[in-house]
Amino acid sequence: MTPVYDDLLSDLRGLFDGETDLIANAANAAAAMWQYLPDINWAGFYFLKGDILVLGPFAGKPACVRIPLGRGVCGTAAANRATIVVPDVHAFPGHIACDSASNSEIVVPLIRNGVVIGVLDIDSPRLDRFQHDDRIGCEAVASLFIKALG
Ligand code: SME
Repeated sequence: MTPVYDDLLSDLRGLFDGETDLIANAANAAAAMWQYLPDINWAGFYFLKGDILVLGPFAGKPACVRIPLGRGVCGTAAANRATIVVPDVHAFPGHIACDSASNSEIVVPLIRNGVVIGVLDIDSPRLDRFQHDDRIGCEAVASLFIKALG
């Protein structure tokens, strides 16, 4: 883990300690990702309601509220139950542009007891912003978040 993710995860461990509330923990996680990760313009959550991902707590500009499962980067990551790193969002078929400043993106599915409950999404104005370290770090954030729900 790179130092920035070590620091982010250690802060999150403290923030989640003794707290199981999904909205409160997602709000603090979004704020902490925004605080620690450089070169990003959006960090937050979507939660699955039926077969639609609905906007949850985030940091950044207002975003699209509902994303059908299988649509966009978020809906594809949730449907495939796998992290997607997109070096250039303009080259991703079906990418949903919430903020025209976004150029790259990482989406990690949130899987609790084998069930997808949502996604963690981070956007960057920089092309190719998210590397292997970010995938490992963001998946660790997602798994800590799921663990905290109990
Ligand atoms: N770009 C995403 C939509 C969510 S925003 O980036 C906040 C997508 O294609 O799923």
